[in-house]
Amino acid sequence: MLAQGFSISRRTATAATTAAATSLRWRLQPTYNRPLSSTSSESSSESSPTTESDEDQQHLIERLKRKQAKAAAKAKAKRQKFLGLAKAVDRGQFSVTYQPGGPNGDAFQNKSGLPTLSLPFTVLGIESSCDDTGAAVVRSDGIILGEALASQAEIHEEWGGVVPGLAKTAHEENLDQVIELALSRANLTIDEVDAIGVTVGPGLEICLRVGCNRAKELAIQHKKPFVGIHHLEAHILMARLENPDLQFPFLSLLVSGGHCQILKCMGIGRYSVIGGTLDDSLGEAFDKTARLLGLPVGGGGGPAVEKLALEGNRTAVPLTVPLLQRKDCDFSYAGLKTNVRRAAEKLVMERGVELPSELPRGDKADIAASFQHIAIRHLEHRLKRAISNVEDEEIKTLALVGGVAANMELRSRLEELCENHGWSLAVPPPRLCTDQGAMSAWAAVERLKLGSSDEPDGQDVYARYPFSLSAENNQDS
Ligand code: KG4
Ligand code: ZN
Repeated sequence: MLAQGFSISRRTATAATTAAATSLRWRLQPTYNRPLSSTSSESSSESSPTTESDEDQQHLIERLKRKQAKAAAKAKAKRQKFLGLAKAVDRGQFSVTYQPGGPNGDAFQNKSGLPTLSLPFTVLGIESSCDDTGAAVVRSDGIILGEALASQAEIHEEWGGVVPGLAKTAHEENLDQVIELALSRANLTIDEVDAIGVTVGPGLEICLRVGCNRAKELAIQHKKPFVGIHHLEAHILMARLENPDLQFPFLSLLVSGGHCQILKCMGIGRYSVIGGTLDDSLGEAFDKTARLLGLPVGGGGGPAVEKLALEGNRTAVPLTVPLLQRKDCDFSYAGLKTNVRRAAEKLVMERGVELPSELPRGDKADIAASFQHIAIRHLEHRLKRAISNVEDEEIKTLALVGGVAANMELRSRLEELCENHGWSLAVPPPRLCTDQGAMSAWAAVERLKLGSSDEPDGQDVYARYPFSLSAENNQDS
């Protein structure tokens, strides 16, 4: 999916900042600036440092400084409170957390609703958490029998980001067709599938609701077991669909449009976030870089940046690796994004063009390659730390998952990193890294195999849906 929201264009932002500064100056002038800067003889005779009005001014300036310091401290405290929360790094603040197996993850009820788990079964999976409507039928041995995906890339392209209302309407328009197509490709009818799985969070609430409501209707109408899927767990579990030997526990690097996390994966429903982003996700950083360079962003800007980066020199634009001094496993991409924008603006001046999107292709390729290189370097740095954190545990595998895991440069660099540490890398094929229906179906297979399903009637959707075990584990991260 694409990162949500829109950036104000550089010109608009500059104009807005200048206007704000002007209006602030204007408001300050009557109290401070005018007497201090006055040059008239009348006012200079009145402006000896000992006059009452100067003391008043001094007093007011002090008061303003104190007020500003107080506001800055308040903002800092607020930021610290929400640090890491931006992308749902759970530090214990959420009322709804994902815990299908109960707080310890070991309390599954034997209520999958399937007559037997000893025979192969099939699941229809539905995914509508953001801008792709996906459905697939997956068999319990991991074979994808049929799948269909309606991309909304063209709809969102002209807006430069996902517009939730448009995404919801497109899901409503496409969902039934997508489900029918997946079923017909699997050569099954809805009555012939054994269960239904659907993404219920995290994601865009109005989009999640479209898929969830339809899945609930189908489950109730056709009397099928129903499983509400955690989108991030579904990304993680895709690594097991393609690598049946991948056993818990393992580490996971989840890099998507909405998330950037390192997780310790102990079992189905048992994930501990050991590092999260303090601001932007990696997918968001790719999307913003694509937008800056005027590349297509409709289906996510990452693929366009990756393609252009192949033509560029990755050391041409000097950029700094974020958080090098921090001793935890958290990420930050906001600073890198700003550095990339500044570097592009410098080139804009040098080349005498108006905008970064008008730079010569060679410059844009250098920016793309340098950004990608440093963005991955940041991941490598944090992963090395995470790997050393679990040194004493039996973990020796890294699963690379989420939309950005489709990036070939990232895949090969992490392959090398794992090799150097005696680890193995498990990564789904690129087309199964990004959002699609098979992820919901396979995650449901995994839960059903443990004898667990949900009540369709009571199932809600959750825009924020953090893993429940993360708070305690974040204490020492
Ligand atoms: O997992 P995903 O499909 O949706 C979310 O759950 O967020 O991830 C989409 C993100 C987008 O930001 C997109 O630009 C990025 O994954 N992405 C890539 C590549 N393919 C998709 N980023 C870098 N290189 C790629 N090849
Ligand atoms: Zn996703």
